[in-house]
Amino acid sequence: QNSDSRTLLKMYSDAAKLYSHILTKTENGTPALKYLKNRDLSDDLIQTFGIGYAPNNNNLLLQFFKDREITEDVLRKSGLFAENQEGELFDRFRDRVMIPITDESGNIIAFSGRVLDKNASTAKYLNSPETEIFNKGKTLFNLNNAKKEIREKGNVILFEGFMDVISAYKAGVTNGVASMGTSLTDDQLYVLSRLTDKINVCYDGDDPGVEATYRALTQLTDDRFTYGVISIPDKKDPDEYIRSEGAQKFQNLANGGVQTPISFILNYFKRNYNLNNEHDQLEFLNQSLQEIVKLQSPVEVDMYVGKVADEMGVSKESINKELDSLRRQME
Ligand code: CTP
Ligand code: MN
Ligand code: MN
Ligand code: MN
Ligand code: MN
Repeated sequence: QNSDSRTLLKMYSDAAKLYSHILTKTENGTPALKYLKNRDLSDDLIQTFGIGYAPNNNNLLLQFFKDREITEDVLRKSGLFAENQEGELFDRFRDRVMIPITDESGNIIAFSGRVLDKNASTAKYLNSPETEIFNKGKTLFNLNNAKKEIREKGNVILFEGFMDVISAYKAGVTNGVASMGTSLTDDQLYVLSRLTDKINVCYDGDDPGVEATYRALTQLTDDRFTYGVISIPDKKDPDEYIRSEGAQKFQNLANGGVQTPISFILNYFKRNYNLNNEHDQLEFLNQSLQEIVKLQSPVEVDMYVGKVADEMGVSKESINKELDSLRRQME
């Protein structure tokens, strides 16, 4: 670690302390604290995740670090500031709930700031830019907290959002992480491969989340892992589900409701067809067979052939014949 990196780590740590102090100990933080309480985050949980508040002030953090004789060069490299048209620095995060992002050892290396007002015209989440200490594609939110539990449980749960990870943690599901708003990179997969061989995708239950799950399953072909899907009902995201249904129901879902990828994919295809209509039935059958044929395990193939046969009211023999002919085409 060079001296700039060490200074940046110290700055992020100090900034997090300042934001946390403002949230929990000052009047300026009251609306943000109220916002977090409305989202059912306890003082303990706010403490555990080091959540803070950046007030609506252009140079609070700027002045704080100028007072501590941080050089202009380092201020610019820190990613904590943006630059106006005159080239002057100002605080990047203003009027946002601040969620610290840590590396694997728990050092704060970035922030994500959430707006309080959902109707605000700016982006809901604002993330730190990449710096000498923050490489987005190598970072997994909450990995430092979750590491032990991932090893012990033998699987990691991949969420879409920070708040989903935090709510799951609150609900006792502590092996969750989130990528930084993108699909998993090879670096992130490498990090996970040292801890576990099973990834359970638990994205939002709304349409974008279901689409993203399908995309993730088609992209996650790394054979160091097996994959599973935890589907959240009623188009909710995990955080909303936990808040409306409670911790116990979410635990049941996370522990006992893991679907295989093929099972998710068949349901995903099914949504697009009207299975009362013979044309749709055939299309669904064909699309399903294209997936079933990819399965490695004969037992799994047999199981899904059975499911599709039941569903379509056709014989397993005829489906197996179709699969044989697909296999021949693929040779
Ligand atoms: N995201 C982002 N910028 C946005 C919207 C989303 O960076 N304007 C990222 C965030 O990392 C967010 C994730 O995408 O956590 C999932 O988006 P979404 O489901 O819309 O947000 P939630 O996590 O549900 O956020 P909240 O519950 O706070 O509304
Ligand atoms: Mn979403
Ligand atoms: Mn969401
Ligand atoms: Mn949400
Ligand atoms: Mn399999």
